[in-house]
Amino acid sequence: MNPSPEKPSHRYQVVIVGGGPSGLLLGSLLHGAGIDALIVEARSPDYVLGRIRAGVLEQGTVDVLTQAGADARLRSEGLPHDGFALCVDGEVLRIDLKSLTGGKTVTVYGQTEVTRDLMDQRRRFGAASVYEAADVAIGDIDTPHPFVTFVKDGVTHRVSCDIVVGCDGFHGVSRRTVADKGLETFERTYPFGWLGVLADVPPCSHELIYVAHERGFALCSMRSPHRSRYYVQCDLNDDAKNWSDDRFWDELRRRVGPAVADNIVTGPSLEKSIAPLRSFVAEPLRFGRLFLVGDAAHIVPPTGAKGLNLAVSDVHYLGSALREFFLERSSAGIDHYSARALNRIWKAERFSWSMTTLLHRFDSYTPFEQRMQRAEFALLQSSQPARAVMAENYVGLPL
Ligand code: FAD
Ligand code: PHB
Repeated sequence: MNPSPEKPSHRYQVVIVGGGPSGLLLGSLLHGAGIDALIVEARSPDYVLGRIRAGVLEQGTVDVLTQAGADARLRSEGLPHDGFALCVDGEVLRIDLKSLTGGKTVTVYGQTEVTRDLMDQRRRFGAASVYEAADVAIGDIDTPHPFVTFVKDGVTHRVSCDIVVGCDGFHGVSRRTVADKGLETFERTYPFGWLGVLADVPPCSHELIYVAHERGFALCSMRSPHRSRYYVQCDLNDDAKNWSDDRFWDELRRRVGPAVADNIVTGPSLEKSIAPLRSFVAEPLRFGRLFLVGDAAHIVPPTGAKGLNLAVSDVHYLGSALREFFLERSSAGIDHYSARALNRIWKAERFSWSMTTLLHRFDSYTPFEQRMQRAEFALLQSSQPARAVMAENYVGLPL
């Protein structure tokens, strides 16, 4: 990867802080529009690619990747999915995405692969990226000439620009920079996490299965016909080291029930980690010349498969706003970015929260709340409109 910004004191139109999927995709869209952007990333390319995360892409996400010209491998290797299954206390309900949404589907293609495709494309473009940048800081965002400083190989660089975009995830520096500038945050944490395992074994089903069981939630997902991704709900304070592969497979089989368990092929785990579940939104998404995008601005629990997709819709809105700003000399797009993105973000937050609430075991739930969970599932079983609402949200609300 481009090891240095080549001309660290060069002025860029945009500095993107964070080279995860949202930073890379925004960089690609800006490059396509002839807008000069530098990506400053705290970690190495291998580290960024080593993080195993999302797996389900909405059609809108595929469309934006297509617009960016980063869809070739996704088209040949991505797996189109017409539906998924909910399995609650042994009862299976298929959500037929295609028929419930007038033909819409999702594509299973890992975030790692999206990131790899965008990194390869950026390298081909010869666009500037700095990896392993330390002490990244953002300044002068209330002026027309903000700047970003960082240390690379012991040398401090200061890059000035017109716009800074914070694509640096939940723990990044961007949101911290505006914490005392009227930023409002909204948060719900959940008292459990997901233990995820990646293994080179064929998936147990050709569609995803979301399982609610008295021992806790489980999810059967995949990355390819040869690679499976499974999750089980676990204690928030648990440690992946406490889970041998055998213990994981046994627990998964107990939760999915005998019919699915018979189809699970086990094998050594390639990766095993625990992710906490959180709902979080920061408002607004613009502070002068600094814009917040993706996980830097919001987090959803992964139950609705919305995290990456939401990051991509932010990028779509901001990408077109920045094209207007630089190419048409209009501020209308950047003035509306925050309200436009938040409108979609809150709907995805609602959906992710409702899927999480429906499918997980909450130890604190009263018998009344347990009955509410059951009634929610019963409504889905009996009501086509209720299934249609779930399907409409799962395939992604319009961009
Ligand atoms: P990130 O992917 O977090 O990228 C931010 C980048 O900024 C990183 O590369 C980071 O190294 C860099 N950075 C951080 N701080 C700095 C700094 N100070 N300076 C420069 N760079 C910095 N979503 C789903 O839909 N399904 C899932 O199963 C799922 N699982 C997840 C598991 C985990 C553990 C996590 C954390 C998230 C998961 N998500 C999932 C959410 C999804 O992966 C994110 O929504 C998506 O990665 C958001 O992309 P992003 O580019 O905005 O942020
Ligand atoms: C995944 O494959 O990692 C995945 C799929 C669907 C989700 C969450 C994660 O809802």
